[in-house]
Amino acid sequence: MNSEQKPKIVKSDKTVYTIYKYAKMVSTNAFLKQHCSSLPDFSVIWADDQTDGRGRFTRIWNSQPGMDLTFSLLLPLTSLEHKRRQNITQIAALSVAQVLEGYGLKPSVKWPNDVLIQGKKISGILCEVTETEDRICGVLGIGINVNNTENFLESLDIPATSLRCELHHKVVRQNLLKKLLEIIINCFNVLSQSGFTQNRQEIKKRLAFINEQIVFTDLKQDSYSGKIIDLNDDGTLLFECEKRGIISLNSGEIAFHNSYTMRKSL
Ligand code: BTN
Repeated sequence: MNSEQKPKIVKSDKTVYTIYKYAKMVSTNAFLKQHCSSLPDFSVIWADDQTDGRGRFTRIWNSQPGMDLTFSLLLPLTSLEHKRRQNITQIAALSVAQVLEGYGLKPSVKWPNDVLIQGKKISGILCEVTETEDRICGVLGIGINVNNTENFLESLDIPATSLRCELHHKVVRQNLLKKLLEIIINCFNVLSQSGFTQNRQEIKKRLAFINEQIVFTDLKQDSYSGKIIDLNDDGTLLFECEKRGIISLNSGEIAFHNSYTMRKSL
């Protein structure tokens, strides 16, 4: 691998992943996309300090060096049905929710890529697809607020929390990462081998804002008011739109709760 830094390497005991831990880099997704041709499937790039982390819609993932967990996992897409690619982000959100439940928390999944605790964001996911000469890969990037302080979280422009704020103690990030990788790789294998049904049921149980009045913004930045009714079989959202009736949504995002926007603008 062509990099000035030497990573610390952690091999898994049970599953197939290998973690390459770096002190600092711009973005683990960008790095993994650049180096995926020389890395085996289920390689994990973890940066202690990510200086320009990216989110969906070219947003920024704000980091506190050494406090949050920012990593990207290389997934083999060759044997995954094309239509299942849109489910990867959702199963990653489910996996994050499940690992947080192991710490006694009650997370919800803000479709399709955020994990919340009581309406506050604790994790964001960005999945990208990249092709090399001989294979097609998913670069699954995950950011989790782990030991971030209240001051840092207050400075963000959306409501956010961290494991430390919720649990009132620090969490060892490597332990969290290893537990999470076991869950994600298992969910990904289920998705590849049996489809989305099993994971869909688990996501539905944890879906945020179901039957609540929300505002949804699509990729063209058009906003719709309405209610989420269900998670469809293919992972799209069934949405009762005030202006357009019942529709399925396959991209875009749910606005953070109105009350927060109002509180911030007071
Ligand atoms: C979002 O909130 O829209 C998604 C945020 C994804 C952030 C993670 S941090 C690790 C990986 N590297 C990146 O540049 N982004 C993802």
